[in-house]
Amino acid sequence: MRMRKKRHGSERLLALSALLCPVLPDDDEKVKIEPEKIFGNDHPLVVEVGCGKGDFIVRLSAEKPACNYIALERISDVAVVAVEKYARSRGLGAMAPNGGWLAPDGTLYKNGAVWAIPEELRGNVRFAVADANGFLARLGDDSLDAVIANFSDPWPGKGTDRRKRLTSPAFLENYRRVLKPDGLFSFKTDNDELFDYTAEILPENGFAIRYLTRDLHASDRAADNIVTEYERNFTEQGIPIKMLEATPVGK
Ligand SMILES: C[S@@+](CC[C@H](N)C(=O)[O-])C[C@H]1O[C@@H](n2cnc3c(N)ncnc32)[C@H](O)[C@@H]1O
Repeated sequence: MRMRKKRHGSERLLALSALLCPVLPDDDEKVKIEPEKIFGNDHPLVVEVGCGKGDFIVRLSAEKPACNYIALERISDVAVVAVEKYARSRGLGAMAPNGGWLAPDGTLYKNGAVWAIPEELRGNVRFAVADANGFLARLGDDSLDAVIANFSDPWPGKGTDRRKRLTSPAFLENYRRVLKPDGLFSFKTDNDELFDYTAEILPENGFAIRYLTRDLHASDRAADNIVTEYERNFTEQGIPIKMLEATPVGK
């Protein structure tokens, strides 16, 4: 995702850092993420990889509040848009006209200041500015109910580095490990080449495809579908949206 550099992006993220997962030391993969400590409960856990500006996770987390969600985005200037959108959606204030974050009680957290948002107000989403594979490596086996990848970068054409695709074997191996035996991998894209590649490679990497459509908006799932930023854009261009769901096999 191309994005103009956000003014004071990292300070803005700092103000709402209570909505981020704790940062773990880079050099010790044995230090694991503990979702129950982060959320204060053991509700089913869903991870979105490459959440972009957060439309999808903000809506899904409000529509299905019985789950916890972790939204991963590796570009901090994109992640800050998602975190602020989520905070606004929960009534946690808004950006002040002259900069800083204005909490609902009128307190202004100037750029660089941290608001220790009370735990009971944080809701069921946490964000992480992180590479998906590095983050997932910190989760325990069988810890997730679902992994969702929407409109991940296609890396199209021959000669591109397919290992960067969020459905390349290294990513699928990680998803399979962290998903519960009955967990779900859900994938949407506009891109035919990436869709065909993903549908072919999933069964070769320990997944069974349970649902597949090449025209989501004309399918029986259309009514329940939550449209993402990229999806809106592609749909306006008349491009059919492809979607599949898969579960791990042999776990
Ligand atoms: C094409 S955008 C789609 C955003 C959003 N999911 C949507 O549907 O509108 C893909 C996003 O995934 C992020 N991304 C790509 N590879 C990633 C990785 N390995 N880990 C975390 N985020 C990643 C990109 O930075 C980008 O914001």
